[in-house]
Amino acid sequence: MRFVLIFSWFCIYYIDMLPQIGFDNTNYISTTTEGETSRCIFGVYEYGISTKDRVFIVNRHNEYRKLISKNMVPNQPGGVDLMKMRYDSYLAIKAQQSADKCRYDYDSSCQNDSPIGQNLFMTMSASFEDKPNWTEALHSWFSQHDLYLFGGSIQTLNRHYVQMIWAKTTRIGCGYVAFPLKRGHFMFYRYYICNYLPGLNPIDVYPYKTEVMMPNTPCYEPCN
Ligand SMILES: *[C@@H]1O[C@H](CO)[C@@H](O)[C@H](O)[C@H]1NC(C)=O
Repeated sequence: MRFVLIFSWFCIYYIDMLPQIGFDNTNYISTTTEGETSRCIFGVYEYGISTKDRVFIVNRHNEYRKLISKNMVPNQPGGVDLMKMRYDSYLAIKAQQSADKCRYDYDSSCQNDSPIGQNLFMTMSASFEDKPNWTEALHSWFSQHDLYLFGGSIQTLNRHYVQMIWAKTTRIGCGYVAFPLKRGHFMFYRYYICNYLPGLNPIDVYPYKTEVMMPNTPCYEPCN
């Protein structure tokens, strides 16, 4: 049995310090800071991002951005000004701190003037065998290009995609946690969270410039 949910907010704040219970796996990097009361009240199955996944996440984002630059995404125009993304440990620390809260209702703690954008992906699963599947999380966000009209309104159903291909975004950092539904329960959630800087700004109508808009300075790859 498996369920998938995705969320996206324009920003986050409300970073408090929470303890990490869990899973000592040296392949995983945890950035969690010790603190008082965790919201992961039923424990944590695993958390953090492996070095391999970290490389994968940033490369996959740049591959998607390259598809836009090469005009290879159905129903989307080519882009000429998409910047290359780099992994950012500050954003990753914040993302892991968000993940470590083991909750997904933090839109209410969102400040509109934060420059950070955030994408979330969640699955509910009964299988402890699975590893974090970032391919699936990133694909679910990117596949929202089907639901986005270039220059049209940015909504929950397409915002993850728009954030991924937002031209000005140059930094990404992610977090991950898997935790049981209830104490000792066999079902558990997996949260995937990525922070982006700068985040998409819905005041800008277009996520990137096309060749028509910017004819003389094309950058067909993600620019450096
Ligand atoms: C990750 O998810 C993708 C898409 O759902 C799937 O094709 C792939 O097999 C999964 N990878 C692993 C290692 O489970």
